[in-house]
Amino acid sequence: MDGGKADMETALATSSKAPFRPPAEQPIETVIQSLLRLPQLVKIHQPNNKIFAENLGLFRKALSAIWEERQIFNLRAHRGRFYMDSQKLALPPGPVSVTAQKLMEFLDKRGLFGFTFIRKEDMKDEDVVDFIRAVNQCSSQEKPAEWLRETLSESWARPLTDSDFKIAFVFKESADGSKVQGRPLVWNSGTRTLAVKARKSYSRAMAVLTSVETKLMEGGAVSLAKSRRVVQDMVESLFEDERLLLNLSTIRDYDDYTCTHSVNVAILSMCLGRRLGLSRVAVATLGLSGLFHDLGKVDIPISLIRKTDRFTPEEYEEVKNHSLFSFARILQINADHRFKTRLLQAPFEHHLGVDLGGYPNSEFNAPMSLFGRIVAIADHYDALTSSRSYRPVPMNPEQALDIMTSAAGKSLDPLLLKVFINMVGIYPIGTLLVTDTREVAIVAETPPDAVDARPLAFLMDRKDEGIIRGEMINLSDTDEHGQFLRNILRCFHPSDFGINASDILL
Ligand SMILES: [Fe+2]
Ligand SMILES: [Fe+2]
Repeated sequence: MDGGKADMETALATSSKAPFRPPAEQPIETVIQSLLRLPQLVKIHQPNNKIFAENLGLFRKALSAIWEERQIFNLRAHRGRFYMDSQKLALPPGPVSVTAQKLMEFLDKRGLFGFTFIRKEDMKDEDVVDFIRAVNQCSSQEKPAEWLRETLSESWARPLTDSDFKIAFVFKESADGSKVQGRPLVWNSGTRTLAVKARKSYSRAMAVLTSVETKLMEGGAVSLAKSRRVVQDMVESLFEDERLLLNLSTIRDYDDYTCTHSVNVAILSMCLGRRLGLSRVAVATLGLSGLFHDLGKVDIPISLIRKTDRFTPEEYEEVKNHSLFSFARILQINADHRFKTRLLQAPFEHHLGVDLGGYPNSEFNAPMSLFGRIVAIADHYDALTSSRSYRPVPMNPEQALDIMTSAAGKSLDPLLLKVFINMVGIYPIGTLLVTDTREVAIVAETPPDAVDARPLAFLMDRKDEGIIRGEMINLSDTDEHGQFLRNILRCFHPSDFGINASDILL
């Protein structure tokens, strides 16, 4: 097809990056074909019909193949092209392109832009049939897109409608007279679903930890199943988008300090573990270890835990026992012994220090384990940056990292600390932020008094001639209830969108 080829060439010439060109027989192509074919087939065949079953099988196989790499993906039509997430698909000329064109018309008639497909572990054929039938039924509704959105709001496959694209734009830039087309920046329901999922995992982790602590104190049997599941969910979110979890770790709940602290330590440890290239399995074990690092605090009198003044030397000796107590409490959990052994070390060592100068004092002089070193860094950081009974005003990350840097080589591992600082690192100037208010902003600076290193940033506005700099916002601004007006949801490097930060900032 000449038209297709010409379009491809234009795209290549105008895009700042070459479009994504999948080799033959890509699963996404099967998805496109299935989305056109299955709604037709389901009208004329029963689901047990051989032809229908074959096509349904192909669709499911293609979805599974894509889900192996990402939990969620979007197939989206935009200006006559299909995108998989933010990558433009360069479909091979021929039947696939023809099908894609027809699918676009099909979607357009119903006011749809595409679909989000969310990995479903126990998917059945009926789930696919339900989805396909709903797609067919929507055409007879007054407002097909809205109806379908409502009907499939809890489904593994959800339609993308115009409300998902409030800030979608493609911009033009004319350096040396030539047009440059950036990747469309899209706030999509996939991102939102991930954010909601991550938030849910956080509150479930809090609930699971509280129940483990209560059961231990009451002397009841405690199993690991729920804790493992919730940590596993977090690992999934983490490998999908580190920022979502990292931002969640800034949750500070003063009343429930120990619990939020433990969940934060679990998250920060997992993020650092991932940065160090640990496998998903190792990251999950590390997360559980972090979650339980202060479990022994259930054995310390609550009056000490809540104390607002400095500890007396005797009280401090008592508090120092908590790492040993954590070790003992983990032993009480019903779980496979070998697995439990892997969880024990970090809680035991988290106050020991790489120079072994901390506590518990023991004959045990082996170097600290990797998990112990990681949890110690996460523990220090969260403790310093959250408000505690004796320090109601938390430190900002910069101050905290300064203090931690001075502890490098003593209580903290200097190399791991470097990786950690890089990770939590303060948003660099020029970073593109997507906020939960569906705005896009570019970081201008981080004032020294910023809350949680929340920067000042310029909103990005769109005018006919391209992107322009809008109003300056302060991400530390709060409403009358002390809630942040905006939270950072995702960060991008400006070059991802062909933006030259200095063009906008200077
Ligand atoms: Fe501790
Ligand atoms: Fe701790």
